[in-house]
Amino acid sequence: MSISQLARSICESPTLKLNETAALLREKGEPVIHLGGGEPKSRAPIDAIVNCTAVLNTGEVRYAPADGIPALKKAIIRYTDENYNRVVGVKNVVASNGAKQAIMIALYAILEPKDEVLYPAPYWVSYPEMVKLAGGVPIPITPEDGSFHPSVQEIAAAVGPYTKAIILNSPNNPSGAMYSEEFIAEMVRFCEKKNLYLIMDDTYNRLIFDGRSPTNCCQYAQSDLNSSKLIVVNCVSKMYAMTGFRVGWAVGNEEVIGAMTNIQSQQTSGPSVPAQWAAVGALNGVQSSVQSLRMTLENNRNILMDRLKAFDGVKVTKPDGTFYTFPDFSAYMKDSQKLSNFLLEKVRVVTVPGKDFGMEGHLRVSFCGTVKDITEGIERIKWALDPNSPNELYLGDRKLVRDWQ
Ligand SMILES: Cc1ncc(COP(=O)(O)O)c(C=O)c1O
Repeated sequence: MSISQLARSICESPTLKLNETAALLREKGEPVIHLGGGEPKSRAPIDAIVNCTAVLNTGEVRYAPADGIPALKKAIIRYTDENYNRVVGVKNVVASNGAKQAIMIALYAILEPKDEVLYPAPYWVSYPEMVKLAGGVPIPITPEDGSFHPSVQEIAAAVGPYTKAIILNSPNNPSGAMYSEEFIAEMVRFCEKKNLYLIMDDTYNRLIFDGRSPTNCCQYAQSDLNSSKLIVVNCVSKMYAMTGFRVGWAVGNEEVIGAMTNIQSQQTSGPSVPAQWAAVGALNGVQSSVQSLRMTLENNRNILMDRLKAFDGVKVTKPDGTFYTFPDFSAYMKDSQKLSNFLLEKVRVVTVPGKDFGMEGHLRVSFCGTVKDITEGIERIKWALDPNSPNELYLGDRKLVRDWQ
């Protein structure tokens, strides 16, 4: 079979693969606890459902503009004004099939072959593969101090003649760390000075804890967005628990948004029309679901932090937002892939290996599930890893026996 070199260079999404594995095991009746998930369990907002069903009920669902239906673009413009204090025009906005496609078409629109794209590690698993798909070279920057917070100097030191763009994701998947206001401000100014694109992946920007306010990157950019290279990406996927609707968007200068729209128009067109109407409902409707999701996640985070304290030698940094934490388990096993496989095999708990996020020795543990899943999942992990654990553990009526050291 002849498969292109490009296709051969692209890895399967490890997180989507784990979802499949967990679903298959569950189908077989295995008592799997999924702490590897990337989606909240709450229902989509009622305004989203009402809007979506209303359009389906007409029975007339047709082609729509490639950059999104006017009602969605209007809702995004309003959202941008309200959350970023920027009044943008329709040509500054493109709606896509999730934040994923918005980032992908941005990369296609700006990269020449071999252009470099920098991003801090740990990073969202898809960035390296997306950069490669667009012909670029992914360059992760690992903070030297072992924290989840890169410094501007570290990023600046990696900028070379081929650097075209920087991607920042805050709060961050997988660490949950929120970069400081000063860091974001400096990075926006740095990119403008160096004439680099800055893709701000704000996917989790409203899912933040401890009374924090979302960082508004736009306030540090040129007053005229059309002369700025800042591209802000967002989506309804996480904050409204609408991952399956596949609606995201990008806001940026007219020229780059126009190029992104052309690419999308030849590739997939915009998101499906019922999904776009659902997103309109979510963005324009009552916002209480975001607040209630945020509070649930904060409570889950606190419970998870409390349970993780029971581990000797595991280094945990309290997440500022998202629904992920990224503890360092290297005291137990250095190879995160092996550790993740071991936990799945022995105690049926799904976690994601840190290696996939550019940091070996860590595991990504999600807290978007139920409190029961979190507490029982951590209890099982502790049982599997702690050599002082009792010899037996019951999963329902199934008895597990510790036959390893
Ligand atoms: C950092 C980050 N950006 C983008 C996405 C993609 O979002 P969407 O589902 O809207 O494509 C995700 C999804 O996990 C993510 O974690």
